[in-house]
Amino acid sequence: MLPLIPAALLCGALVGAHQTCVVPHGGKGVNDAIGLKSLLSNCSTDATIVFQEKTTYNISTPVVMSNLSNVEIQILGNLDLPKSIPYVQAAVNASGGRLYWFTVSGNNVTLSGNQDEDWGWVDSYGVPWWQAAAYTQPLGGLANRPHGWSISANNSVVRWLKLRKPIAWNLAITGNNNHIYGNKIDAAYDLDTPSVFPFNTDGYDISGNNVLVEDSWVFNGDDCIAVNKGNNITFRDSVCIGGHGASVSATTGVSNVLINNVTSKNSLYATRFKSSLNSVGNITNASDVTWSNIHVHNATFPIFATGVYFDQNTNRGLTPGNYPANSTATHISNFEWINVTGTINDVYPGDGSCVTNPCWYYVANVTKNAGVTMQLLNGTATNIRVLNAHLKPIDGQGESDVLCDPRSFTDGTANLGFKCANGPFVPT
Ligand SMILES: *[C@@H]1O[C@H](CO)[C@@H](O)[C@H](O)[C@H]1NC(C)=O
Ligand SMILES: *[C@@H]1O[C@H](CO)[C@@H](O)[C@H](O)[C@H]1NC(C)=O
Ligand SMILES: *[C@@H]1O[C@H](CO)[C@@H](O)[C@H](O)[C@H]1NC(C)=O
Ligand SMILES: *[C@@H]1O[C@H](CO)[C@@H](O)[C@H](O)[C@H]1NC(C)=O
Ligand SMILES: *[C@@H]1O[C@H](CO)[C@@H](O)[C@H](O)[C@H]1NC(C)=O
Ligand SMILES: *[C@@H]1O[C@H](CO)[C@@H](O)[C@H](O)[C@H]1NC(C)=O
Ligand SMILES: *[C@@H]1O[C@H](CO)[C@@H](O)[C@H](O)[C@H]1NC(C)=O
Ligand SMILES: *[C@@H]1O[C@H](CO)[C@@H](O)[C@H](O)[C@H]1NC(C)=O
Ligand SMILES: *[C@@H]1O[C@H](CO)[C@@H](O)[C@H](O)[C@H]1NC(C)=O
Ligand SMILES: *[C@@H]1O[C@H](CO)[C@@H](O)[C@H](O)[C@H]1NC(C)=O
Ligand SMILES: *[C@@H]1O[C@H](CO)[C@@H](O)[C@H](O)[C@H]1NC(C)=O
Ligand SMILES: *[C@@H]1O[C@H](CO)[C@@H](O)[C@H](O)[C@H]1NC(C)=O
Repeated sequence: MLPLIPAALLCGALVGAHQTCVVPHGGKGVNDAIGLKSLLSNCSTDATIVFQEKTTYNISTPVVMSNLSNVEIQILGNLDLPKSIPYVQAAVNASGGRLYWFTVSGNNVTLSGNQDEDWGWVDSYGVPWWQAAAYTQPLGGLANRPHGWSISANNSVVRWLKLRKPIAWNLAITGNNNHIYGNKIDAAYDLDTPSVFPFNTDGYDISGNNVLVEDSWVFNGDDCIAVNKGNNITFRDSVCIGGHGASVSATTGVSNVLINNVTSKNSLYATRFKSSLNSVGNITNASDVTWSNIHVHNATFPIFATGVYFDQNTNRGLTPGNYPANSTATHISNFEWINVTGTINDVYPGDGSCVTNPCWYYVANVTKNAGVTMQLLNGTATNIRVLNAHLKPIDGQGESDVLCDPRSFTDGTANLGFKCANGPFVPT
């Protein structure tokens, strides 16, 4: 006869055990987000949640997987979002205009895609949204677009995700000690059809400490990555195509950022620091940033820093660069660009994000051979350096140019690594 096991202990053992929860696929006409939701009460701790391979799940309503602990989510099948633009817009509108289709939060969460090329895709059917934007006012992306993923987690991993034709923003990842790798973001568009442009399709928006993002492939129409907040953040060994580059964007403190070994193809910016005018006051809040070993193919602005970033959505009717003399901007310090080599797009500079006149990215006095552009207010930069930059116009005509105002730098220009004056790039 078996010994009697007290009921409480049995229960404890079950709760503590690692379980595998397979997300049911309901078949035609069924919203699989409902089946997933019913699993979560039992599968939010010590569990593996599996979207099965060779299955296309219908995710017709937003999914929230919150407060996960020791959970791996395996997206082995494909996840299909709704194709109807008005249906999705209504959902976003009902949420007050801001909605993530997927929300994941917790501690020790592994969010995995599938390394098989054919499966593990999240399909958002964004192309009709990009096309429709060309026929709406104001231009620059349809109203009520959902965000893709909000991942708010510590000690977590995000790997092998494949996001195809996003409607807009892709992965917003917040939290500490996170490792993000092997993801593919495919908002590929025709560079020569500017009327169909994937506005605001940011690849990664990162906030947090001790974050490593690597081995990524991003073809999109906004920041490949935007490091927005935090300390000790690395982005490396990745490819950024189209879009607006590997950016550091200071709205709040950013420090110790390394962007290394990134290939940039056909982008508006390859590397960029951006901060909006008057947004942050007079404090030192972006420091110790390095862009190294950047392989540039055909970037309009390969090396770019602005303290007067111009948002065309919130500044309609205003002109970029037209600000009062007493304006303030983020103070940047200890920035280095080293080993930035390749070509400047002087043949067709700019991209399809230009829907105002002048463009939001217009910079007074910049030439089409802009290799290094430092659009920084008086006394807002300290210890900035550009070393071993080799940039040439892609058509072989002329040399790389610089836009630089010596008054930007609190410590003078002797250590900048190039001659600070509007004109040709002259290393010093
Ligand atoms: C997806 O779910 C919705 C219900 O929310 C349903 O109307 C639609 O037909 C489903 N799609 C597929 C392909 O099953
Ligand atoms: C959770 O698991 C318990 C025990 O296995 C089971 O009785 C219950 O039906 C499950 N609840 C859901 C929502 O699946
Ligand atoms: C989060 O999960 C933990 C157990 O893992 C639980 O104690 C806590 O109440 C949950 N918090 C919320 C807000 O659900
Ligand atoms: C993290 O979660 C996994 C399950 O996904 C588990 O195997 C592992 O032990 C957990 N790690 C820690 C430190 O708890
Ligand atoms: C910085 O972050 C990395 C993860 O990218 C981590 O391995 C390293 O320990 C962190 N360094 C410090 C000083 O915390
Ligand atoms: C640079 O990144 C590419 C991926 O884009 C990788 O194949 C290559 O090995 C990396 N180089 C080094 C030196 O790590
Ligand atoms: C450079 O980029 C532009 C788009 O901005 C594109 O039209 C052009 O074909 C690209 N040139 C090369 C050589 O890739
Ligand atoms: C900005 O900070 C500097 C150094 O702390 C100080 O000298 C200057 O007066 C401040 N400017 C304003 C407008 O607050
Ligand atoms: C920068 O400082 C100079 C004096 O050094 C002043 O004439 C000019 O107006 C300032 N520019 C801005 C944009 O504040
Ligand atoms: C700049 O000065 C003008 C008046 O000369 C004032 O109205 C404005 O508020 C000031 N702006 C800032 C950011 O201090
Ligand atoms: C810059 O490139 C040179 C080779 O050209 C290499 O020796 C050096 O380590 C690189 N610097 C950095 C910071 O990667
Ligand atoms: C542009 O260049 C002209 C002529 O050198 C100069 O007067 C003007 O201040 C410059 N404007 C800016 C915003 O740099």
